[in-house]
Amino acid sequence: MRRKTLILTFVIIIFSFIILNRLFISRLPICRKLPSNTPSLSTLTWKDNHDELWKIPEWVEQYNVSHLFDWTWHKNSDYKRCRPPITRSPQAETCSAGSPIVVNNALEFFRSHPEHGCVVDDIARLPNLIPHPLPRTRSLSDTCSALNIKRDWILCNKPQVELDRWLPTTTRFITVAIFNAYVDTGHCHPDVPGTIFTEYATYHLQRWTNKWCNNDPIRQIPIVEAQYQHSELIDTIGNYLSAPGHFGPQQLPRLLRLLATAPKTAKVLVAKGGVADGLIDILVDRGVVTHDRIVPYEKQNPSYHYAHIVYRSEAWPYLSDARNSHYVHDRTDMQLIHRVLAADKQGSHTKRNLVILIKRKIGGTRSIIEHSNVALFIESALNKSKLANDLHLAIFEAHGHMREHIDLFRRARIIVGPHGAGMMNILWAPPGTHVVEVGYTDGMRFPDMYAEMSLHLDHHYWICKGHGNYAEPIHIDMEDFTFIFNKIIYEIENAK
Ligand SMILES: *[C@@H]1O[C@H](CO)[C@@H](O)[C@H](O)[C@H]1NC(C)=O
Ligand SMILES: *[C@@H]1O[C@H](CO)[C@@H](O)[C@H](O)[C@H]1NC(C)=O
Repeated sequence: MRRKTLILTFVIIIFSFIILNRLFISRLPICRKLPSNTPSLSTLTWKDNHDELWKIPEWVEQYNVSHLFDWTWHKNSDYKRCRPPITRSPQAETCSAGSPIVVNNALEFFRSHPEHGCVVDDIARLPNLIPHPLPRTRSLSDTCSALNIKRDWILCNKPQVELDRWLPTTTRFITVAIFNAYVDTGHCHPDVPGTIFTEYATYHLQRWTNKWCNNDPIRQIPIVEAQYQHSELIDTIGNYLSAPGHFGPQQLPRLLRLLATAPKTAKVLVAKGGVADGLIDILVDRGVVTHDRIVPYEKQNPSYHYAHIVYRSEAWPYLSDARNSHYVHDRTDMQLIHRVLAADKQGSHTKRNLVILIKRKIGGTRSIIEHSNVALFIESALNKSKLANDLHLAIFEAHGHMREHIDLFRRARIIVGPHGAGMMNILWAPPGTHVVEVGYTDGMRFPDMYAEMSLHLDHHYWICKGHGNYAEPIHIDMEDFTFIFNKIIYEIENAK
């Protein structure tokens, strides 16, 4: 009986919600048909004759990443960039778009609707190594059980021969240009902005949230302030914006794909703050982008943007199956980031002589309670080994600019750290680096993101047991760590 009442209440709530929602949306005026070629956008200057526009950027060759793109735009119709047949100003008042469609398959859609946009690049992801490498441990099944990840980590529960199909489950990257379009501020989930929409269609090229609205059309067309109207805009914003564990491995590869394939005349919408700012400085240092192109997107104060061409890139195809939702941290993205931001310039060779121990704030979440013991153990193990003159311990506490972090991690032979944002820096470490991530047992499940990143970067990735809660300081399993570290030292000694 109680259950029936509950269900009834639930149904009533849902219905009222839908009706209210309908009423609200239908109260909005229907969007007006706008005249084409309105001159109100003074920024609108296509520099189609400008030579620069038709070149593949120099850094692509310089950092040896041209094989990570297919250069559709460059091959198509004699180097012709796609252009909107009409350019329109955004709507002057908030209005309802009527019934926009949802586009998941942009390749198919633009083939039949070239008036709405085009495909800029379409490349298959790099194949994984076969068989896919596994995390190294003292015993994988024992470590997976101890850290309660046996069910959740594909790396713990799928046969090794199948892993290639799962990590990730997407197979391609597509980059598209969408005409006269808006950039969303997070209609479905405030932490997942960046969806592109027009009065005609909403483009969900990938599912970035589990919420029920993840594939809904956006009906409400917003007002866009003049300062947020552009002629061409690269839209890189996405999940968790500048959050340290997310910007580097998730937004950054999208940003690089777009900077490689969209014209230099396009402005670049990027998350503002935290690691994002530091990483943009590095892209400027390395000649990939200039500061004057950057349009900051602030989480605290989000605004809608509009442009005559909005560029967007996603892993593809769109997945609707929740269990198949591994669409980040693939080999292509990881290698793209590593090469562009950290790989040695041609002819130079960085000396790799560091054992880096990541230290989170004492007493902070997932700080290792036995940190000093770990540091002492590492030093004495090095002293006793044949590597005393070749390897030195460095404690990393994330001081200084991201530039210094990259310089440090490029020199790593071994990286040890608890799960957390500091681990993002494994992106800068060269192939062959030993990465030891210390797990924990309680609270939020120990995520597999750094495992995937590290394995795709051809590191030796190790999981060391730890115990404690995600939200508190944790203990390292010293016996497990001793075993792992001695094994690493032994392997390095014998590889010489
Ligand atoms: C560029 O990258 C490709 C693919 O990874 C590799 O085979 C090639 O040796 C690299 N070239 C240089 C000059 O590093
Ligand atoms: C390791 O050797 C260095 C230099 O010989 C010495 O200063 C240091 O105390 C030693 N550390 C440990 C833990 O043995």
